[in-house]
Amino acid sequence: MAEPTGCIVAIDGPAGAGKSTVARAVADRAGYTYIDTGAMYRAVALRAMRAGLEVGEDDGAIAELAGELAFEFRAVGDGQHLFVDGEDVERAIRTPEVGKLSSVVSAIPEVRVRLVSAQRRMASTRPVVMEGRDIGTVVFPGALLKVFLTASVEERARRRYEELVAYGEDISFERVLADQRERDRRDRSRAVAPLRKAEDAVEVDTDPLSVAQVVERVLELLRERLEERDEQDA
Ligand code: DC
Repeated sequence: MAEPTGCIVAIDGPAGAGKSTVARAVADRAGYTYIDTGAMYRAVALRAMRAGLEVGEDDGAIAELAGELAFEFRAVGDGQHLFVDGEDVERAIRTPEVGKLSSVVSAIPEVRVRLVSAQRRMASTRPVVMEGRDIGTVVFPGALLKVFLTASVEERARRRYEELVAYGEDISFERVLADQRERDRRDRSRAVAPLRKAEDAVEVDTDPLSVAQVVERVLELLRERLEERDEQDA
């Protein structure tokens, strides 16, 4: 499928770098649709788990499942939830167990092919801010703006820990830090679409910045890109 030429902001980076918060805020401010592709991998993991499918043994069936799911992001309260086949899975996909399994499921090449197609379809009709690991490198190599968000592993683990505690999880910081390191290693070393910065992505280190500052920086970059594009089109 041809890559659409609309407005696509790609936000990639490791787990816990603040991608979701930043991508959501940028989408809100720009009036674009926010798409969290990690939630889609998590949903495939959840459905595979419920169906009793095992990674390694049932990869074909897991990929088939990924191709059949109907994904929809809907506004709920002041946030956005992922619905799969009409079911609100937002809470179920945020558990540490599903997080871990999603990392393994996302390494299955055929699963990636199915989800990348779904992601391209979602962006074909509207401007989007799409967040993930491979958006700037694989899903939309021609995105208008690519941002690679980074932060130290300790800072990222701290943020994830606070998120999990807010969700009511009984978990230690040490365990979250260990999980984070393991997930980083898997995301960076997998054979298909490993996490890496696209050459033309702008790297933003979020350690010394507030969320508001990161959002402003991305919006400023977006304004610049839109102006450059308008000049080229004129
Ligand atoms: O961002 P997250 O933690 O919700 O992502 C869940 C898993 O999915 C994580 O292990 C990385 C993987 N993922 C991916 O491989 N490609 C993406 N575009 C998004 C997430």
